[in-house]
Order: sequence, then C-alpha cells, then structure tokens
Amino acid sequence: MSELNLILIGPPGAGKGTQAERLQRDLDVPFVSTGEMLRANVKQESALGKQAKRYMDAGDLVPDDLIVKMARERLQLEDAQDGFILDGFPRTLEQAEALDEMLSGLTRRVTAAVLIDVPDAEVERRLSGRRVCEKGGHNYHVEFDPPKRDSVCDEDGSPLVQREDDKPEVIRRRLAVYHEQTEPLISFYDDKGLLRRIDGTHDAADVHDHIRAVIATLRHEENV
Ligand code: AP5
Repeated sequence: MSELNLILIGPPGAGKGTQAERLQRDLDVPFVSTGEMLRANVKQESALGKQAKRYMDAGDLVPDDLIVKMARERLQLEDAQDGFILDGFPRTLEQAEALDEMLSGLTRRVTAAVLIDVPDAEVERRLSGRRVCEKGGHNYHVEFDPPKRDSVCDEDGSPLVQREDDKPEVIRRRLAVYHEQTEPLISFYDDKGLLRRIDGTHDAADVHDHIRAVIATLRHEENV
C-alpha cells in the first residue's frame, strides 16, 4: 500500500467539509466532495444537476446509480491515482460496495473511514448558522467561525449565502436520512477494521489535530 485513500463519514454538519479543507492543506491528495460536485452541476443546470436538484432540496439522497457513476468518473482522473479524501461518498451500503469494487479492480483499497461524530442538536445549531461562499464553497458559521467582514468570504471576497438545504425542515429530513441510510456504514467499516472515530463536538482546530494524529498512526501502520 503506498497511498492514503480516506473516507470522511458523519452526519450533515459534522464538519466533514471543514476538516477536508484543512486536511487538503496537510496532505497532497485531492479532496472529493460529492455534495460540491452535485451543487456545481445544479448551478450549471447540467442533466445530472437537473435530476439531482429535487432530491437535494428535499434533503433526500440522490439515487445510487447517478452518484456511483459520478464518483467513478472522478476517481479515474489522474490526480486521484495516488490517494484521495472522500467527503460525502459513500453514503449508502450500495455505494460503499461499489467503491470497494472500483478500487479492488485497480488493486487499491480504502485505507480508513474517519467518522466525525456529532449529536443531532449540535448538527441543527451548526447548519442553521452555516454560511458558504458562492464562488469557492468556503465554509463559515455566524457564531463559531465568522468571516472577518460580515457576509464576505475571507478567501476570495465573494458573498456568503445560506444553502437551500440548511432550512430547519430540510435539516431534520437530512438527519433522518443519515440515521436510516448512512449510519449502517459505521458497522460496515468497523467490521473491516477500517473505522476511526473522532469526537466532532470539539472546536474545529482540535478535531483537525485529532484527525492528523489518526492519519500519522495510519501512515506508520501502512508505511505511506
Ligand atoms: P453534502 O454537501 O455532502 O452535505 P452533508 O453531508 O449534509 O454535509 P454538509 O456539507 O452539510 O456538512 P459538513 O459535515 O461538511 O459540515 P461543514 O464542514 O460544512 O450533500 C448535500 C446533498 O447532496 C445531500 O443531502 C444529498 O442530497 C446529495 N448527496 C451528496 N453526496 C451524496 C451521495 N454520496 N449519495 C446521495 N446523495 C448525495 O460544517 C457545518 C457548519 O458547522 C459550518 O458552518 C462550519 O463552520 C461549522 N463547524 C464545522 N466544524 C465545527 C466545529 N468543530 N465546531 C463548531 N462549528 C463547526
């Protein structure tokens, strides 16, 4: 094994995107967010975007066949050949099995699934206060991680907006979908000895330090 193929799992708003952005600065591997890819497709009004939008706006998962095709195409690109960080994929057992199949055909495998664990009440607080930049998708929180200038991204100066699916009723639906369809992945990866649990309730810098410590151990164990 000579590469780090990491999966980030966790409820909506657990901080997967926040941590992936930080980890990308530490590790020289691409960060692949299926949520970001879908939002880009919605913005471009592509055929996939048009199909996905109604599921996303309702807080439901986009059908597995569409997601698996999109993920497969992304992971075939040159930059993902020496490792990747996946945020938001896989999200169902079918997707996890499809990912294993994609990788095993290339004599690759998942190195670890990092679970960022956060209770529902904290998810609701985080998502209701989240703001994202229109251009680069950088994340902020009105209370926990405010931008330097009100409603303007520190990184690229674009306006900060609230995501359509961060409305209270959609947040509750996304949480229910997570418990029903994504939580089974915890045992799936635990049974394979690949699960690493992180307490996501600490501040973002502490969560980052904890994940880095987990990665350092993995690198030592896997010799990467
Ligand atoms: P996606 O974009 O993946 O959304 P999600 O999983 O619901 O996750 P979020 O992006 O909402 O949260 P996050 O964990 O990244 O948290 P963040 O870092 O932003 O998916 C959107 C939709 O696309 C899905 O609902 C589905 O329809 C579809 N989709 C995507 N992938 C799919 C798939 N594989 N299959 C089917 N459908 C799919 O942090 C949240 C907030 O908290 C921010 O404001 C942040 O500043 C703040 N924060 C972060 N960390 C901390 C901390 N430690 N303390 C305090 N605040 C914090």
